[in-house]
Amino acid sequence: MSPKDTLKIAVIGGDGTGPEVAREGLKVLEAVAPLEGFKFETTDFDFGGERYLRTGETLPAGAVDELRKFDAIFLGAVGHPDVAPGILEKGLLLELRFQLDQYINLRPVKLFPGVETPLAGKKPEDIDFVVVRENTEDMYCGTGGWLKKNTPDEVATQTAVYTRKGCERCIRWAFEYTRKRNNPKKMLTLVAKTNVLTYGHDLWWRTFQDVAKEYKDIKADYNHVDACCMWMVKNPEYYDVIVTTNMFGDIITDLGGILQGGMGVAAGGNINPDKGGTSMYEPMGGSAPKYTGKNVINPIAAINAMAMLLEHTGQAKAGQRVLNAVQQVTGTKMKSQAAGKMGYSTTEVGDLVCKALG
Ligand code: IPM
Ligand code: MN
Repeated sequence: MSPKDTLKIAVIGGDGTGPEVAREGLKVLEAVAPLEGFKFETTDFDFGGERYLRTGETLPAGAVDELRKFDAIFLGAVGHPDVAPGILEKGLLLELRFQLDQYINLRPVKLFPGVETPLAGKKPEDIDFVVVRENTEDMYCGTGGWLKKNTPDEVATQTAVYTRKGCERCIRWAFEYTRKRNNPKKMLTLVAKTNVLTYGHDLWWRTFQDVAKEYKDIKADYNHVDACCMWMVKNPEYYDVIVTTNMFGDIITDLGGILQGGMGVAAGGNINPDKGGTSMYEPMGGSAPKYTGKNVINPIAAINAMAMLLEHTGQAKAGQRVLNAVQQVTGTKMKSQAAGKMGYSTTEVGDLVCKALG
């Protein structure tokens, strides 16, 4: 997208506190656009638990093709207390990831100034790495089934599927990203479990070795996932960029989320980096039903998701400006990143970030 064009954003506020935090992200977008000289247009979609309870559909026919027309999707949260677990996650979030082929899940783990981490003695300069999680394969692909269901002999399978194409495009993107990030470490760590998953993760390992030959300027490193969990807690400063499989990526990014101050802060991008691809950006906090409508939930993660959207949709300067403003607010204003303990309401935090844009 050239900077002259209008940025077209589909907004799915979703469930619970999703719409509240999305609103603050959009408020910041509205404030930063004139400062950086770009135009945008938003279109709301009412997908989520309420719509599902009313109509029985998670994504109506034609919705995915409609969303494809946008430059990006901004998502608040999915998850509704009256909808069984898995329905909205699979029918909405995973369905969009798969159908839009958003094969990168990008999860920065960065401790902002003033934000508390549970790791004793660790400072913002110690916690600053990025996880690149494959987002379309592995145990998430939905391959499996039951035999003799609901009998004492029941068998269930849930198959991890890995393809050369799937891991290669993710690994290559991660090398490119590490190069672009240009951290002094210049290191990409493959996180897998090659000592046990000797077929699937052997494919990842061999592919990683092959692609690494094209990136001699980057140190190609490897950790088993269990060791990585220990290392993330003991020596987070070791990491620059991690590339990993979908299931392990899901788990270690929540560990990463708590290291950076919790779900009020952590944001993720579901990225289809191919030409014409539509990517989706979201705060990681979930729908937090008990805080809904109280104006106490932390919108920082949603604002960070908006910054990521801008960074990857042709407005990198605007994205950086938002991140700088967020760090000013966490560093000098907010008392805590926990819902209800921020020292400000949801809308006030949004206002503070807008003011800090300068
Ligand atoms: C995430 C979430 C999702 C996942 C859930 C909500 C399906 O935990 O984005 O990390 O497992 O990918
Ligand atoms: Mn997760």
